[in-house]
Amino acid sequence: MRFHYECCDCNSVYQTDEVMYLCPSCEKENTDPSLMRKGNLIVHLDVDDTDLLKDKEDLSIYDFFPYEVPDHGAFPIGPTPLTTPIRLREKYGIKNLTCKMDSALPSGSFKDRASQLIIGQAKHHKEDSIALASTGNAGAAMSCAGAAYGVKIVLFVPETAPVNKLMQSVLYGATVVPVKGSYDDAFALSIAYTDEFGGINRNTAYNPMTVEGKKSVSIELFLQMGKKVPDVVYVSTGDGCIYAGVVKGFLDLYQASLIDKVPQVICVQSNESNAIAQAWKTGEYNTVKATTVADSISVSSPANGRMAVRYINETKSWAVEVSDEEILSAQLELAKEGGMFVEPAASCAWAGFVKDKDLLLEKYGKDVDVCVLLTGVGFKDMAVFNGRVSLPPSIENSLEAVHKRFNSI
Ligand SMILES: Cc1ncc(COP(=O)(O)O)c(C=O)c1O
Repeated sequence: MRFHYECCDCNSVYQTDEVMYLCPSCEKENTDPSLMRKGNLIVHLDVDDTDLLKDKEDLSIYDFFPYEVPDHGAFPIGPTPLTTPIRLREKYGIKNLTCKMDSALPSGSFKDRASQLIIGQAKHHKEDSIALASTGNAGAAMSCAGAAYGVKIVLFVPETAPVNKLMQSVLYGATVVPVKGSYDDAFALSIAYTDEFGGINRNTAYNPMTVEGKKSVSIELFLQMGKKVPDVVYVSTGDGCIYAGVVKGFLDLYQASLIDKVPQVICVQSNESNAIAQAWKTGEYNTVKATTVADSISVSSPANGRMAVRYINETKSWAVEVSDEEILSAQLELAKEGGMFVEPAASCAWAGFVKDKDLLLEKYGKDVDVCVLLTGVGFKDMAVFNGRVSLPPSIENSLEAVHKRFNSI
């Protein structure tokens, strides 16, 4: 598969086989930290190649990848389960409602999709190490993939990062480097590291292959649904990298004439981390002070914000903001009425669907086909239950105590 890069902001095109990160000219404009960064690159597959996909019988997600990925089975990124939540379908009166459980991926989050393609990129360029900065799921996903393929992973983290989130990466054998500084400092050091020591840098959105890898979810969904796509897809959003990946997958299917309409992809943010939703509403690309409890989507300066806004507009979609209380009750609702245990960053997408349900019924009618993307497993963030959910007290080991307990309910 051949590809080229296009700058999301100035639309410059770069025809190169080299690894590229940001658009060299827009990157220079990133001097004001109160504004979202410019210069993210979009990976475009060449049209001649995608034309061939239309009539391919055994189509797979890998047909759409710019790099070959070796030994998929070593680190399988799908297909993840597509649940048909019968109780929730009935509750909300939408019979074609599904949830895509990317929480079931090897490291427990959607980030595995990007990490697998980065392995392909590293192998193609004969690099044997990958560096990144992350405080959570991206670091764990890259470390997990590194363990599976035998690629060295160097992970820079701010020293204040939550220990439980880093433990997974340590266990996978990554070299974890705590930095006396902020996430931005760790980000900059990871770039200095790859400049000095070589290897691939996998920083979210900085490496355009992260968005490109994430698009596999949409192609997978298309294949799972018997070569069709939903009307509407809900996506939890922080940096806007998953959001852009989901849209990109549908755009590639459209480019290959495999679908004749691109679904509306709804960007769901916490109102306490709403930089992208606000930029979409106001046209101003300001950063915010993020404080949401859903830590994986707590982002003050979205690394892929401008591309996410561009795609919201291009697909005539919209952004919806939800409160932290709505995110937390969505988490419990999914668990108790759907049997789906996800972290708050993932239940944010469900909260967005719940908020929009009347709008969906009005816009599309009760046959609307809706898919909610669930991006991370609940075990990732158990601290969120402190003070909210507790274990009941023990009873004596006797039948009498059982009677006492149940008669008192
Ligand atoms: C579980 C989960 N959901 C959603 C997101 C949001 O993705 P993005 O930051 O690309 O918008 C993240 C990002 O870390 C995540 O870990």
